[in-house]
Amino acid sequence: MTLLALETSCDETSAAVVRDGRVLSSVVSSQVRLHAEYGGVVPELAAREHLKNLLPVARAALGEAGVEPGQLDAVAATQGPGLPTALLVGFKAAQAVAFALRKPFLGIHHHEAHLYSPWIARGGGALAANFSDFQPNISLIVSGGHTLLVLVESELKHRVLGSTVDDAAGECFDKTGKLMGLAYPAGPEIDRLAEQGNPKAFDFPRPLLHDAGDDFSFSGLKTSVRYFLRDNPKLLDDAQRVRDLCASIQAAIVEVLVVKTMRAAKRNGMRCVTASGGVTCNRALRRDLESACKREGFTLRLAEESLCTDNAAMIGILAERKLAQNIPATDLDEEINPGWVLA
Ligand code: KG4
Ligand code: ZN
Repeated sequence: MTLLALETSCDETSAAVVRDGRVLSSVVSSQVRLHAEYGGVVPELAAREHLKNLLPVARAALGEAGVEPGQLDAVAATQGPGLPTALLVGFKAAQAVAFALRKPFLGIHHHEAHLYSPWIARGGGALAANFSDFQPNISLIVSGGHTLLVLVESELKHRVLGSTVDDAAGECFDKTGKLMGLAYPAGPEIDRLAEQGNPKAFDFPRPLLHDAGDDFSFSGLKTSVRYFLRDNPKLLDDAQRVRDLCASIQAAIVEVLVVKTMRAAKRNGMRCVTASGGVTCNRALRRDLESACKREGFTLRLAEESLCTDNAAMIGILAERKLAQNIPATDLDEEINPGWVLA
């Protein structure tokens, strides 16, 4: 099966062509620089950029894959959750393509696609799904908009254990970075600065770390950084202290994520942990998940860096999998679902 997938749920315009579990092409046009000027994603601007970029991105994906539209067997797009006006662009375009080609269309849940993205790996240079290695797992999805812990019992069967009650982990990186005067999104810059900082320099709260449940909360940590900077305004003039501050904030976020993920795995008898979403690019998180899983003898599957942030490849791989398992296609007059909650 050859399938074209589109993803426009937030600030990345992406198109991918997948065939029989292989990613033939995956093109992502990021708007991050545009939104940086405003300190966050501006929905109206995001939608306009998607409108401008979708056709060239889709053409590039088809071109790179060496696939003509007439050769497509199916089309998929992110149906939700996401920014309504942004989602509409990719979703409606994909429905129109499916209509014109008279091929099935599938609307995909963005987080469900993240859940399976760690099983897409690079083999012989190309990305391909490797579900033959699939193990029941605890999946951590950490991005700018979401923090979720999910029990994935079998392929296409999952149950959400916990999510954030306020800010997402990525949002905590971005907002505390903003307090330090770092550009949006601050996550990658905090990661970079933290590499040369002392994670024990400052002691920040680890919200809900000792709570028995699987929910997260990060707004208290952000507030505590705000008060810390109010009381220590001179600290920002000292480059090494800024690195220490980045390392200390990062350590608090990473500890909460790692400890709660491992605890959920043990409690549910899972011996495999997976992670995806933009924050999974964070080096400390990758390292600490690796050592925690090694200690417990668990398998760890981290999404490839190019698949951590939003991309259509994961949408396409999941859509193809669903169609192969006879999951019914989505009606062409069905609407986007911006608030779609993963069950
Ligand atoms: O998945 P993503 O591209 O978009 C959504 O939010 O859906 O994730 C973006 C988030 C931002 O909050 C960004 O700061 C964070 O991921 N991020 C990182 C790193 N790279 C991206 N956070 C910490 N360390 C990183 N290396
Ligand atoms: Zn995402």
